[in-house]
Amino acid sequence: MGNVILIGFMGSGKTTVGLKLSYRLRKPVIDTDKEIEREEKRSISDIFATDGEAYFRDRETAYLRKLLENAGNQIISVGGGLPLREENRELLRELGQVFYLNARAETIYERLKHDTTRPLLQGPDPQTKIRQLISERDAFYKAAADVVVNVDGKDFEQILCEIEKNVK
Ligand code: S3P
Repeated sequence: MGNVILIGFMGSGKTTVGLKLSYRLRKPVIDTDKEIEREEKRSISDIFATDGEAYFRDRETAYLRKLLENAGNQIISVGGGLPLREENRELLRELGQVFYLNARAETIYERLKHDTTRPLLQGPDPQTKIRQLISERDAFYKAAADVVVNVDGKDFEQILCEIEKNVK
């Protein structure tokens, strides 16, 4: 299918890197969160609040299946929790080459400490939650990835170069 797929924790830069990469590689970009919000005509926070996380996770899998029918030669950035399902990791593998934007918990916390759009981080102690989720998820991200890109301390230019030189 020849897609370039970006995975990683919330705040690791997938959406921004996807947009910049789209411009550089001259390929269209899509973001699973944005597409699901568009289809559902409501925000991720509303989906979580009204129908719960499990509903959202099913929407992610359904959306990946839809991509497999029609997405080729695109940049696809996916929600931070999407690669946790084994079924989704298989679908990602079929869709293309997977890049894991790997960031340390401290980097993520600095970027997201004022964020209100991620329902999973709205509890009393987001810093601990970020650390806990990253340690639970890292192995799944690595299992899904063809290439791991460490993003800490790097600017977009460096990250984009690293991805570009590894794109097949
Ligand atoms: C989530 C990440 C979010 C969004 C939802 C759940 C997660 O996407 O899908 O809030 O479980 O990590 P981003 O990674 O684009 O923030």
